[in-house]
Amino acid sequence: MNIVLLGAPGAGKGTQAAKLVESRGLAHISTGDILREAVKNQTELGVKAKGYMDAGELVPDDLIVDLMKERMEQPDTSEGVILDGFPRTTTQAVALDSMLSELERPLNAALLIDVDAEVIVARLTSRRMCRACGHICSVSDGQTCPKCAGEMYQRDDDNEETVRNRLDVFDKSTAPLIDYYQGQDLLVRIDGDRDPGVVFADVEAALGF
Ligand code: AP5
Ligand code: MG
Repeated sequence: MNIVLLGAPGAGKGTQAAKLVESRGLAHISTGDILREAVKNQTELGVKAKGYMDAGELVPDDLIVDLMKERMEQPDTSEGVILDGFPRTTTQAVALDSMLSELERPLNAALLIDVDAEVIVARLTSRRMCRACGHICSVSDGQTCPKCAGEMYQRDDDNEETVRNRLDVFDKSTAPLIDYYQGQDLLVRIDGDRDPGVVFADVEAALGF
């Protein structure tokens, strides 16, 4: 099963993807996580991407499509993938359609996790991530990871000014994908402003689990 998780920054894509990995064992591909790793390791991709990410702008489509073509050919994708943060533009969505068609795999659903912008600003300015295992939580959860006791940190793009720009970029560049997937009869809207477990029950129901 191949799934696109659509949603504004902070809507809960990573949170719901982690639950799907745990319950269904699908491969989780987050372009944001791949890019942050590339920035950390100062690879050629990371050096090119850093300025865009720090400003809350999108990394250019050609870089993203190249990295996704390579990633989708890895063996762990054969049983299905959860795409988190990709596609983010119509160009990327068209590229994904052709990648999947070359691999002879269907896209089963595009789940839109819907959350109001002001709720998102509050969530993202208080989000913390684990350096060791990537676990996502909030500043109120303390300074060490509740899963692995690793060090928690705040993402460079989780300050209010950058969050607001990321929301504008979502409206301008990514929101058109809602119509794109509605047109393919793949879109399911999920109210993301509820307890994460309640949201997940809807995610599973939407996927027929
Ligand atoms: P990326 O890493 O994808 O960031 P994003 O889309 O901005 O989304 P986030 O990861 O911030 O939010 P999320 O929806 O995963 O929410 P989460 O579950 O963490 O991209 C970062 C940057 O990389 C981009 O700005 C761009 O520069 C670049 N990039 C990446 N992909 C790209 C692409 N395809 N093309 C071009 N550029 C690309 O939850 C957020 C917080 O809310 C957490 O604290 C969590 O605990 C909390 N929370 C989650 N669910 C709930 C709930 N139901 N109730 C209450 N709190 C909740
Ligand atoms: Mg995320």
